[in-house]
Amino acid sequence: MTRILFYLDGYPHDVWRQCIHAIDPEVDFIGNPDWGNPEDGPAYAFVWEPEPGLLARYPNIKAIFSLGAGIDHLTRDPDLPKDVPIIRMGDEGLKEGMAEYVLMNVLMHHRQTPQLIKAQRQHEWKRVFSLAAKDVRIGILGYGALGQRAAKVLAPMGYNLAAWSRSPKSDDSVQHFTGMDELDNFLARTDILVGLLPSTPETEGLMDFDRLSRLPEGASVINAGRGSLIVLDDLKALLDSGYIAGASLDVFPEEPLPKDHALWDYDNVIITPHSAAITRPDTAAEYVLRNIKRIENGEEPENLLNTNLGY
Ligand code: GLV
Repeated sequence: MTRILFYLDGYPHDVWRQCIHAIDPEVDFIGNPDWGNPEDGPAYAFVWEPEPGLLARYPNIKAIFSLGAGIDHLTRDPDLPKDVPIIRMGDEGLKEGMAEYVLMNVLMHHRQTPQLIKAQRQHEWKRVFSLAAKDVRIGILGYGALGQRAAKVLAPMGYNLAAWSRSPKSDDSVQHFTGMDELDNFLARTDILVGLLPSTPETEGLMDFDRLSRLPEGASVINAGRGSLIVLDDLKALLDSGYIAGASLDVFPEEPLPKDHALWDYDNVIITPHSAAITRPDTAAEYVLRNIKRIENGEEPENLLNTNLGY
């Protein structure tokens, strides 16, 4: 019988249990706070922000499934077991949610919706003129499963699309830029930047004042990967000078964004509380059970963490 040790604080577990049992009623689904005896038989952990040290106390965990695409909530645990495979979430719900968020925010900035809302608040009948989609250059920074899905949703709108990733990708549906050598050229041709990078030592602070300034004047910045990507004070400075026209930020270096942070009050900044793509229990349950089956059959699970790359 499959055992799942589930960890999620602050939200009811029932819906997760139901979604797992709808697919396989035999699964022994054990939620925190009581995971029971660490000596009990093999189990899979399925967790979000588990209490540090907890996973290390359960030597029979065969694999750790992250409830999100990111795994920084796991690696910040100094006692995280080193030899247990970690699997990132890659279910359909997460990809759909992120694609919706990206499409919505690209359209917001392309169609200058923040300016329109500001005019509405002031009862001003003030038209704005927006470029044709084909003349708007979108740059997806980070071209994994989420970036690729976002591109798929943006393409039929007619946008001029490019993507940047660390390593080459065999996908010629968008113009592709690879590695640090090509980052500046990628930024120079990007009117709306869509940040979808994971948090790694390489991505931390990558978009600082200098890199943000490589974007053309009037560019907008969307970030829904990890907050560590952008040096927030540098972005703020470029918004203050008017060089950057607007931003949509779902993730921040410090979360929640402190109540007294100036960006909350910017008309041209759309702030959301790390909710661009929230993992859906139905599709996530399907994903986890499918991948447990793969592991049991000796196959490699999808989205297995590469510990050298950090994603
Ligand atoms: C959310 O941030 C995730 O990691 O999926």
